[in-house]
Amino acid sequence: MKQIKLILSVLAVFIGMTAAEAKKPLKVLAIGNSFSQDAVEQNLWEVADADGTTMIIGNLYIGGCSLERHWKNAQSGEAAYAYRKIDKKGVKTNHPGTSLAAALADEKWDIVSFQQRSPDSGDFSTYEPYLEDLIKFVKKHNGRKTRLMFHQTWAYENGATHSAFPKYGNSCWKMFDSIVVASSRACEKYGLGMIPAGTAIQSARMSEIRENVTRDGYHLNIIGRYIAALTWYEALTGRSVENNSYTAAHIEPWVREIALAAAHNANLTPGKPKKCGPEKYVTLNDEAGVPEYTLPDALTMADGSKVSTAEQWFGARRPELLKMFTETMFGKSPAPSKDMKFEVVDVNNGALKGIATRKQVNIILDKSGKHCLHVLIYLPNNVQGPVPVFMGINFNGNIAVSKDSGIIPPSKAELKKYGIAANIETGVKSNRWPLEQILAAGYGVVTFYRGDTDPDFFDGWRNGIVSLGFKKDQTWPEPDEWGTISQWAWSLSRVMDYAETDPDIDAKKVAVIGHSRLGKTALWAGAQDERFAIVISNCSGAGGAAISRRMFGEVLQDLNRHFPHWFCENFHAYSGREAELPFDQHELLALVAPRPLYVASADGDKWADPKGEFTSAKEASKVYEFLGKKGLAIDEWPAVNTPSIEGDVAYHMRQGKHDITPYDWENYIRFADKYFK
Ligand code: GCU
Repeated sequence: MKQIKLILSVLAVFIGMTAAEAKKPLKVLAIGNSFSQDAVEQNLWEVADADGTTMIIGNLYIGGCSLERHWKNAQSGEAAYAYRKIDKKGVKTNHPGTSLAAALADEKWDIVSFQQRSPDSGDFSTYEPYLEDLIKFVKKHNGRKTRLMFHQTWAYENGATHSAFPKYGNSCWKMFDSIVVASSRACEKYGLGMIPAGTAIQSARMSEIRENVTRDGYHLNIIGRYIAALTWYEALTGRSVENNSYTAAHIEPWVREIALAAAHNANLTPGKPKKCGPEKYVTLNDEAGVPEYTLPDALTMADGSKVSTAEQWFGARRPELLKMFTETMFGKSPAPSKDMKFEVVDVNNGALKGIATRKQVNIILDKSGKHCLHVLIYLPNNVQGPVPVFMGINFNGNIAVSKDSGIIPPSKAELKKYGIAANIETGVKSNRWPLEQILAAGYGVVTFYRGDTDPDFFDGWRNGIVSLGFKKDQTWPEPDEWGTISQWAWSLSRVMDYAETDPDIDAKKVAVIGHSRLGKTALWAGAQDERFAIVISNCSGAGGAAISRRMFGEVLQDLNRHFPHWFCENFHAYSGREAELPFDQHELLALVAPRPLYVASADGDKWADPKGEFTSAKEASKVYEFLGKKGLAIDEWPAVNTPSIEGDVAYHMRQGKHDITPYDWENYIRFADKYFK
């Protein structure tokens, strides 16, 4: 065997071929424009070669060429193309004045690809009837053996000046989503294989490569071209590029790592981009690196006038701040539907070995019945009458809250809806919900799963309750309309609507609580809905309690890149422009005043900027004091595990990591006792 191999390779060397070339080459022709030029003309041959595949690549190039024009050219036979070819040795030639038919006849192409010009790439109506006509044309010329594919191109970058960008609301995500819809439709309708370059480029944008994928906002740069080529190769051959050994010139190792992962993931789940690869930029977690900043004064109106009375605060400044946070950050929410219904589906007074009464209530949010919050409630059996409760959304599903086998699990359809966000196992998060401890203190717990509101992954606003805010024919929130955090906060208010009808719950004594993204949510819910008597933010970090201008740990760019659906579109404009925000997060906290507020951090949670959370609570205290309440009782950022709960604003920094633990709960209970007992 060894001998045969040796003879073969000697033979190959003898006739001047590498081992890869000895195989039959894969012949691919792109019917495209400058976007296919970006994808196939630079690195594709090399990526293939590194994997032992020899390719012959053709690109039928006319700048900005649309499907319509390709079809016209096909019909007229016009020799309108620069036909760029890369032969099996990787040698490039250009043949101007080539017709489509001539290029099709030039080789026995294994694969031919189509694409739409970028301005129309997200508009399927422009594909018709030309794509179908072209497909027929190619089939007629090349026979049935040629595999036909569709090149999913990429979106323009936010801020790009392309004249077609307004068609997509000047929004990279909106354009990307339209491209996903149109390209998937093309593939499904005509049985084309997908080349998901647009998805891979979007993943790079979500990762540390950020916007560094184009040279002018729409044409790819060396990084973008490398990613596109890798994506093409895997799509054409089905061979994973995860370990492909080729690296384009000037590509650093960390970029390469993201590029390989982005290309591979795009092929696994076309249309679903995701952050991948390493974090290149070390998160700032050194106090010395915090820029100088000036915080907007919560007690000064936008026009510069000072707030001097409580009436002015409640009548003018508070509404002004609320409007700014609504329209610039979280997005407007609709009024609840008059068709909202509450259905009690379970009551069991012997739950958790008899210490609790468990109730499960479905809140059906609209007439269609499609949107439903499954609320899980535990009430202490050792207390008479309506009880105070902690109300908060859970991360992993109701069944993750406790090992209680009476918790209704999600249906199959719901699991499907939750999609990639579903990670639900019985009791896995019971450490975050120490029910026995809370119940023993005389409090109830009211919770529901975040996925009921929104499965928390971006899919172009098709999942979740977002559509409850849409007008007829609207498919995308306006730049000032609700993102997912607003939708979660709104859902908490709907649960509050229910609580007001439940005689076993004291709706005047509801503490809204949340951890991390759901802590941001608790703050926004508490800021807007004054029925929440206490507001508790646990490790809410950036976009929650932490001061944005400190730029410590997670910054706005991270939030908006990794979670493009959380905040409204207007907020994306502030990525990297923290100093220009018309507010900062201490003013979000101030909106809770005069109601008691608890902000907590963990010392190991640098990403959430514990000191920024403390600073914010301290600053917000000025409004509490102005309103005759007691602000945070300490002036200095405290040592770990030394809670300050004397004031109406409380703070602690737990020792440990990003989490919510029984220690945190112990202090929240002590704080709530001050007001509710
Ligand atoms: C990420 C995100 C944070 C968020 C956290 C969470 O770390 O960057 O902003 O708070 O997820 O919700 O767990």
